[in-house]
Amino acid sequence: MQKVIFDTDPGVDDAMALLFLHHHPDVDLLGVTTVFGNARIETTTRNALFLKREWKIDAPVARGAGETFIPHRISHEPPTFIHGDDGLGNIGVPDVFDVPLDPRPAHRFIVETIRENPGEVTIVAVGRMTNLANALKEDPEIVDLVKEIVVMGGAFEVNGNVTPAAEANIHGDPEAADIVFTAEWPVVIVGLDVTLQTVMTRKALADIRDAAGTRAKLLFDLSQFYIKFYEGRVPDGMVVHDSCACAYVVAPELFETRAGTVRVVCGGIADGMTIQKPDGRTFGPSDWDGLPSQRICTGIDAPAVLQLIHDTI
Ligand code: BDR
Ligand code: CA
Repeated sequence: MQKVIFDTDPGVDDAMALLFLHHHPDVDLLGVTTVFGNARIETTTRNALFLKREWKIDAPVARGAGETFIPHRISHEPPTFIHGDDGLGNIGVPDVFDVPLDPRPAHRFIVETIRENPGEVTIVAVGRMTNLANALKEDPEIVDLVKEIVVMGGAFEVNGNVTPAAEANIHGDPEAADIVFTAEWPVVIVGLDVTLQTVMTRKALADIRDAAGTRAKLLFDLSQFYIKFYEGRVPDGMVVHDSCACAYVVAPELFETRAGTVRVVCGGIADGMTIQKPDGRTFGPSDWDGLPSQRICTGIDAPAVLQLIHDTI
């Protein structure tokens, strides 16, 4: 059983990833922590509470950062054209007053949960890295106590999706991501290099709806706006970014990885760009020296990952 904290900005593909973690038999979901990104923090937190209620998820929800690690650093508008005004495909998410929030801020929830389960907690981070950077700031010793950090974010050998250089989760808080990737804990980065290959067709989504009843009907409905965004961008269907990171946790054999030091460009026209110096390559002295080796995903068995998502949900 893998103990998992899901750090998320729901978000349509986040919602699918949450349902995946909730139903996977090898996952013990310890908590859901929210962060700004696909919508403002009030909205992503409300959405997490809504999904917790609708899908009968026991894990607590803790509200996290509403702005970048360096305060007021960036104020990008949320991508309402991808996830809708309500962050869940404009299904009209109601206010949620009957589901209590965990009293702790997300970064403290993360620190305390890691300390209560030394060596056992995997954090799947599929939004900005702000909560993780805040957790490291509060308690740097957690680097020795966490099992693994699995991140959906970044673009290494491919273009970004916000700018030619940068992917959304990293572009939204580059300093936080650089702190997370250069910390002495094991990080695996599941970036656009592999997630863009993982396209769920309309038929596959409808098959999940037909096979899984009410919970998947909600997933199907909230995905319609997002799938429309992908019209003309992929042949048919939608990219299931965040579920790829969750799939990595339970089936790493479906991915190829490469080890090396990872840094994030902080500022300028390549703001938020992720770069890996592969282990074994030598360069002149640089800001990559002496930092830990992290793994980035370079390959994915996309059909198998899509099948895993189908079977799990
Ligand atoms: C990432 O950005 C968000 O829009 C998605 O939820 C995903 O985590 C993809 O770049
Ligand atoms: Ca996300």
